[in-house]
Amino acid sequence: MAGEDDILERARSVFPGGVNSPIRARVRPRPLVIDRGEGPYLHTVDGRRLVDYILGYGPLILGHVHPSVAEAILKQVSRGWLHGSLGELEVLLAEKILGHVMPGGMVRFVNSGTEATLTALRLARGVTGRRLIVKFGGSYHGSNDYTLVEEGEGGPRPTSLGVVPECTRLTIVAPFNDVDRARLVFEERGEDIAGVILEPVMANHGLIPAERAFLQELRKLTREHGALLVFDEVVTGFRLALGGAREFYGVEPDIVVLGKVVGGGLPIGAVVAPRDIMEHLAPSGRVFNAGTFNANPLTMAAGLATLEALEQGALEKANRFAEELERGLGGIISERGLEWSVQRLSSMLQLYFSPRPPKTPGGGMGAFNEMAYGLLHERMLARGILVPPSQREVWFTSSAHYDHGDALLSETLRAFAESLGG
Ligand SMILES: Cc1ncc(COP(=O)(O)O)c(C=O)c1O
Repeated sequence: MAGEDDILERARSVFPGGVNSPIRARVRPRPLVIDRGEGPYLHTVDGRRLVDYILGYGPLILGHVHPSVAEAILKQVSRGWLHGSLGELEVLLAEKILGHVMPGGMVRFVNSGTEATLTALRLARGVTGRRLIVKFGGSYHGSNDYTLVEEGEGGPRPTSLGVVPECTRLTIVAPFNDVDRARLVFEERGEDIAGVILEPVMANHGLIPAERAFLQELRKLTREHGALLVFDEVVTGFRLALGGAREFYGVEPDIVVLGKVVGGGLPIGAVVAPRDIMEHLAPSGRVFNAGTFNANPLTMAAGLATLEALEQGALEKANRFAEELERGLGGIISERGLEWSVQRLSSMLQLYFSPRPPKTPGGGMGAFNEMAYGLLHERMLARGILVPPSQREVWFTSSAHYDHGDALLSETLRAFAESLGG
């Protein structure tokens, strides 16, 4: 196999920025070149073994190459990996998802979280016959022209070149966890709003949970004004709880968008909603969505094996390890007298440079410091521990971390303590 330097150099000449997704270029001091994954570890081409708290940016809740997922994929390989028509696996996976997330509902499988949010918003517009979407500042819903927008001077502004203002003018950007502003938005524009999309636990600005009262108010406002409430659970789905935010918060959305974990680490997105909404999708309805690779058999097999393992205790294991990690990090932080905090929900966590985790992306004075966080990431990586390269991402744990137990935890905590210096 070619060496790391050689691969990186060749990658720089064939990919913009040397990578195929921007966050991968943020790893310091340079992108990782991976040979293979194994349980909670990644092995690099140059022979380093890293404890992986990125886990593919969320999907690998069982860790790398989990035996039952590998077996399911291999079994399916021998039966074909693209059939272009219906098979039992996709029915089984849909039934399993619905059983937890929305009994009595329906599913459309697509191939990424981005496709799923695009489809969900199109569906909301198709069902209501309205144009406007409400999103919340700082949230990320994939590479989606209608949500790559933030509030700027004089109104919403695209966050990417090439996203046209004609698109983003149709999106209202409201502040997260702000009940009063949500009420105002509906007072002013309620009859034009097709849907409200949000991550019930924001996982793209560190980890910021919605307050229950905020979700309840959004539920009330959308009902009163005939708009749809869309939970983007691409990250939190089957991590926060098997039943997702609906179970965790007790608030019922109209549409749930899933991705990541439900595909067991293979490409996936899913739109879930009650029958009366879903039947607007083609071919039963007139809201278009189609995909050559939708519900591809390998993903269905991997997703099904993953959800089965989660039901059999893997979810608790991933959570338990994260809990111990949170406790360990918290202990070191207070020993050092640092005024930092750790925010953890289930198997997701992030650190903040403020005594308490922020409640909004803009709040928590000094909570975010990409320079300081980047340095911590680099120092931990030098000690064999891979945490996300940006504080906007979150650390993920898996059941494989739990299975490797105390040794892995002490290795991580030692690297953390050493990385703080002093
Ligand atoms: C909340 C949320 N929605 C949607 C997406 C898009 O998913 P994908 O990267 O599979 O397109 C992401 C990706 O990280 C996400 O975090």
